Amino acid sequence: MSAAANWWQTGIIYQVYPRSFQDSNGDGVGDLAGIIARLNYLHSLNVDILWLSPIYPSPMHDFGYDVADYCAIHPLFGTMADFDRLLAEVHARGMRLLLDLVPNHSSHLHPWFIASRSARDDPRRAWYIWRDPAPGGGPPNNWLSHFGGPAWTFDEASGQYYMHQFLPQQPELNHRHPEVLPAILDCMRFWLDKGVDGFRVDVIGMLLKDPLFRDEPENPSWNGVREYQRLLHVHTANLPEVHALIRRMRAFLDGWDDRLMIGELYLPNADLVRYYGDEQGAECHLPFNFQLIRAPWDAAVVRHLVDAYEAALPRHAWPNWVLGNHDQKRLASRVGSRQARVAHMLLLTLRGTPTCYYGDEIGMLDVPLPLALMQDPPALRQPEIAHLVGRDPQRTPMQWDASANAGFAAAGVRPWLPLAPDCGAHNVARQLADPSSALAFFRAMSALRRAEPALASGSYRSLDAGKPDVFAYLRGDPGNALLVLLNFAAEPRCPVLPLSCAAADLLLSTTMTPPRRVSLSQLVLAADEGMVLRLPVAGCVA
Ligand code: NOJ
Repeated sequence: MSAAANWWQTGIIYQVYPRSFQDSNGDGVGDLAGIIARLNYLHSLNVDILWLSPIYPSPMHDFGYDVADYCAIHPLFGTMADFDRLLAEVHARGMRLLLDLVPNHSSHLHPWFIASRSARDDPRRAWYIWRDPAPGGGPPNNWLSHFGGPAWTFDEASGQYYMHQFLPQQPELNHRHPEVLPAILDCMRFWLDKGVDGFRVDVIGMLLKDPLFRDEPENPSWNGVREYQRLLHVHTANLPEVHALIRRMRAFLDGWDDRLMIGELYLPNADLVRYYGDEQGAECHLPFNFQLIRAPWDAAVVRHLVDAYEAALPRHAWPNWVLGNHDQKRLASRVGSRQARVAHMLLLTLRGTPTCYYGDEIGMLDVPLPLALMQDPPALRQPEIAHLVGRDPQRTPMQWDASANAGFAAAGVRPWLPLAPDCGAHNVARQLADPSSALAFFRAMSALRRAEPALASGSYRSLDAGKPDVFAYLRGDPGNALLVLLNFAAEPRCPVLPLSCAAADLLLSTTMTPPRRVSLSQLVLAADEGMVLRLPVAGCVA
């Protein structure tokens, strides 16, 4: 696929973490009515596609990623009528709505699991993964949970272990049982019939595990910190046969017009691109590409990873880039507030669908919490590394204004997680009033992306910028080429570019200086500055 024609190729995806976006009913937790009240703000960001983390009924052991009913709305977030209104309001603004689908595991309170654990001969028993204890007693094998401890919990009543790669309250569905995928497809049908535009599928590469339940090998380069990393997960993730399952999900989704399937996958290029599918059938439209989150923030490293990803993409595959999500340290905390603008310019000028995380557009920072205030299960289960694995800091309430609770919740309400201490000064309202703010820059950058076909769908080529710390690339074709220059250094840099033209038009700088004509041979990038420039039509790009 070379030209971008579809909404999910040209659009910007924005992840809303519903618990933390806007509380409308005074319980300290965000809700659907709150999101509706903020839709005009989202529209003003020029984002096109909203993805909501789970809003289904759940006991909230993993804050909604433990689903107790795939076809309903948690009362904490509102009602189905609220959801229908949200969907209609999103569509009325020309935007799209994606839900989070969690087919790998349910809540232990899902009726399927309640039945499964009720008796060994219950028809739902084999919908989950049950095993006898190891011959000498103890868990059936050495598999580990992402959140610390074994991936097995013993059920006294039936004398067997069930498997879970996250919490014991998140038992894994057995996707080798012929009835399980159809049951999940039924849930997809429910939302697709309502008009939901697609799904972000949780841990899509983990849906199948080794049928022989073999031990996983030790990881020879384990650094001794996170227990989960002690093993190489060759039998619990990314199994070759998972692709056939994903092809079935995609074929089902394609029974509706123009819907989107995104897969959550943390994989190197060679494995990742297989999740687009092949001649046997399509899989994910967008297997999430998390490389910008994980890479050291260095111009040469980032250039290399962009070029390597572009080179690895199959011909039919559309690229995508992600800067943040609810599982990762926030962008501005990872790279610093000044470089966060450079990162957004990168995200919104690369070829492919961009995904942003709520609050990053105003440069929200991780909010460090003492252990006593942490709620995230991997932190509570591994207190000695809580500050490393806890995800509460990146999930704190959206900072809207300088009022009580920063406008997230009414005065006197206790938000479910504390607000950033500087939210009185660091918020949407303040930045809306400041034409040089991070928010003003984000909006200008997203508007530019929307206005320039070269950014939405043009080709990509990196350039040698002649100086370390500068990442330079072209978007578009010689008839309409844009040049992007990103200074990753906290000092000025003067790139030396392999371009034959003398001048170009600066369209946007991260510093928000006004557009102007600039000399390419005397160009100075200020510290932490990124620029998008339009090159003259002729004689510049070979
Ligand atoms: C990935 C989700 O993004 C994360 O938040 C969750 O804890 C696990 N999957 C388990 O569902």
